[in-house]
Amino acid sequence: MTPPSWPPGAGRGIISIMEAAWTDDSVRRAARGRLKKGIVRLFLEQARAEAAAAVRSRLSFRSSRNPDAVRAYCAMTQAEFEGINARQRWANWRTIPKTLRGRLPSRPCRALDLCSGAGHSTEVLAWCLPPGSTLVGLEFNPAFADAAAARDYRDATGGPARVFFRAQSVLDPFLDERGLLVAAGSVDVVNSSGALGLHFDRAALGVVADEISRVLRPGGLAAVDSCPKGIGPDEMSELFAARGFTEAGRARSCFLDRFTQLCLVKNGGFS
Ligand SMILES: C[S@@+](CC[C@H](N)C(=O)[O-])C[C@H]1O[C@@H](n2cnc3c(N)ncnc32)[C@H](O)[C@@H]1O
Repeated sequence: MTPPSWPPGAGRGIISIMEAAWTDDSVRRAARGRLKKGIVRLFLEQARAEAAAAVRSRLSFRSSRNPDAVRAYCAMTQAEFEGINARQRWANWRTIPKTLRGRLPSRPCRALDLCSGAGHSTEVLAWCLPPGSTLVGLEFNPAFADAAAARDYRDATGGPARVFFRAQSVLDPFLDERGLLVAAGSVDVVNSSGALGLHFDRAALGVVADEISRVLRPGGLAAVDSCPKGIGPDEMSELFAARGFTEAGRARSCFLDRFTQLCLVKNGGFS
């Protein structure tokens, strides 16, 4: 894998709008190395897994009532989840790099991956963050958090990434890798993929957005998924604007994708 060239100015700690830290080519190579399958096979794998899980548990995970969604996810086996999340895993390699590109600090940062599942979004986020960054995944289902912790995480230079997981609801105050409350204004990036836009109603999402706003430093980034079946992109943008965020961009994996990931910048930092 060709190492990316990180932008100059390391250590300044400001959001960079300079040259992207990685190329489309290096993202594609990294995605191919991890996914090993194309979108058609992943799509079929997901359809089969969804049908099998629906028959077995009679629960639908596609709910914007969060208690129903987490009950369905907790009723899945790890293998069922891997199948059900196949398309999401592919999409993450397209949306997360697009959302964060050219907007990350040059120095190592602190990041959270909300609703991190089995670590599929976390592995992309770990790859995108500057080497030396610390990343904590927060996931409701302890079995998924354990499976995520067993994976190998690499940054874009191929070096090991510092990644930790906690089993907790993101509706509770965010805790760090030591189980301590994440300090206000201490986080550079909060990511959410395939979760906040679909599995939370407006009231629940308000709770999560308040906590995201608390932990992010001024100028920090919230990369948050939205979905027309739940909280759509405009509603998501408004919800964060009411908490002092400015939308900086939107990304979709492809034109058929129902999910749009928004890049929201907490006001008050350098741009
Ligand atoms: C579609 S999966 C996405 C997983 C991961 N972000 C990815 O992109 O691969 C949604 C995840 O959200 C988790 N989840 C839903 N509600 C949650 C909550 N209140 N707190 C923490 N995790 C939650 C589910 O357990 C599930 O693992």
